[in-house]
Amino acid sequence: MKPDYKNWVPGGMVVGLASATAAVFLLFLLFGATGLLLHGTVRLIAALILGTGTLVLLFFTVWMGALYRTFDYNGKRKLAKSIIEGTADHVRIPDGGTGLDVGCGSGALTIAAAKRNPKAAVVGCDIWSGAYKAVFTKNRCEQNARAEGVSNVRFEEGNAVSLPFADETFDAVMSNYVYHNVSGHDKQVLLLETLRVLKKGGTFAIHDLMSASRYGDMDRFVKKLKDEGYEDVRLIDTTDGTFMGKNEAKWLGLGGSTLLTGRK
Ligand SMILES: C[S@@+](CC[C@H](N)C(=O)[O-])C[C@H]1O[C@@H](n2cnc3c(N)ncnc32)[C@H](O)[C@@H]1O
Repeated sequence: MKPDYKNWVPGGMVVGLASATAAVFLLFLLFGATGLLLHGTVRLIAALILGTGTLVLLFFTVWMGALYRTFDYNGKRKLAKSIIEGTADHVRIPDGGTGLDVGCGSGALTIAAAKRNPKAAVVGCDIWSGAYKAVFTKNRCEQNARAEGVSNVRFEEGNAVSLPFADETFDAVMSNYVYHNVSGHDKQVLLLETLRVLKKGGTFAIHDLMSASRYGDMDRFVKKLKDEGYEDVRLIDTTDGTFMGKNEAKWLGLGGSTLLTGRK
C-alpha cells in the first residue's frame, strides 16, 4: 500500500470547475453564439454574459489545475512534499518525548517528523471538517502512517482555537498552512494557543502565510516572545528560494509563506 497525502487543492474542485466551464460554454453556444434559441439584443446580452462566464471559469479551472499539479506528491514539482520535509527538518524532539502537529490534514508533517525523531512520538490533531473534510480524515492519516511503516504517531481530533491539551504537554509543536484557514480568529492568539501546550525548553516550527494582513506585526510578536524568555526565535521567509521563489509563491497564492522557529 502506498501513502496518499491527497492535495491541498481538492481534485474534486478542479473537476467541478472544469464541468461548470463546459456547461456554461454549452449554454453560450445554445443561447449566445448560434442564434438557435434567442435573437437580437437578448441573444447579444446572453452571449456577453455566458461568454464572460466561460472565460472566468476557464481561468479558474486552468489556475486550480496548475496548482494541483504543482502541489501533487506524484507530480514533477512536488511542492507540498518539499515544504512538508523542509518544515519537518526543523522539528527536534528529545528521545522519549512527544511532539504535536496542529492541523495535520492527511498526516504528512506528523509522519515526516516521526520519521526524523524515531525515538519520540508525534500526535497529529485536526478538526477534519470544513473546507477539507472530503479529502483529509483521521482514517486517511492512520492509513498513511501504516503505509509509511511509521508507528510512533497517533491522531486525534483537536481544534487550533482551543487545543484539547493541558499547558506544557509537548516537547515540540509544529504546523503547516493551518492558521490562515481559521477565519474570525486573531492569528497571533492562535500561535499563543499552540505555544501554550509546549513545554518550557521545547521547540517550535510553524509554517504559514504570515503576511501582515493576516498576522499583523510579526516582528513585534517575535520581540514579545523574546521578552518573555523564548530563545532563538526566527522568522524565515520561505519564498526566498527556501521552499519556493517569490514569483512562484505569488501565482500559487502562497505569498507571505514564513517559518516561525524557536525554543520556549
Ligand atoms: C491546507 S491544509 C494543511 C494540512 C497539513 N498541515 C499539510 O500540510 O498537509 C489545512 C488543514 O487545517 C485544518 N484546520 C482548519 N481549521 C482548523 C482548526 N481550527 N483546528 C485544527 N485544524 C484546522 C484543515 O482541516 C486542514 O486539514
